[in-house]
Amino acid sequence: MGYAIAEAAIASGHDVTLISGPANLKPPERAHFVAVTTSEEMFAGVQSAVADCDVFVMCAAVADYRPAKISPQKIKKENAGRTLELVPTRDILSAIAHAPRSFLVIGFAAETNDVEENAQKKLRAKNCDMIVANDVSRAETGMETDENEVEIFFRNGERKKIPRASKKIIARELVKIISNTREKSLTKKS
Ligand code: C5P
Repeated sequence: MGYAIAEAAIASGHDVTLISGPANLKPPERAHFVAVTTSEEMFAGVQSAVADCDVFVMCAAVADYRPAKISPQKIKKENAGRTLELVPTRDILSAIAHAPRSFLVIGFAAETNDVEENAQKKLRAKNCDMIVANDVSRAETGMETDENEVEIFFRNGERKKIPRASKKIIARELVKIISNTREKSLTKKS
């Protein structure tokens, strides 16, 4: 979805920085591309890119936990079971959205149940201006598929559905909605 949004934003004339973990996709040619592998690298990349942006869209599926220790050597197999200690990763979206900012923040919420309730909670907890929710319990839409169906919840209580379509079309619609919201927020401030 991130690559599709980057592509759609470039096609409508925006200057785009795409910060991505390992993916089997070719980045759009006109994007400033930053490749990362860990959540800390992604946080650092995002932090330096947002200093100079109008809109931050965070749709990476970042791992919520990472191993507490990384072994420099191969871990030998033992007959007993093994427990790995996991520690929470930093929530990039929440950290960036809560810091003083003048740009718009759009988060994503992939849910398997109570989509609206969970998305509304994340919208507030992570201090987003908009959150794009999708139901990933259905095999035909969501992750690892070319189609999606989303509902957008706005900070002011508005909501908007984008019916099932290719990720390319969803991305174009999202870029239009984000641009309109950005324009409205600028008009309000001036
Ligand atoms: O809480 P949950 O992971 O469902 O929230 C999803 C949103 O938070 C997405 O926009 C995702 O990119 C972002 N996120 C993040 N850093 C994390 C985990 C999730 O920015 N460590």
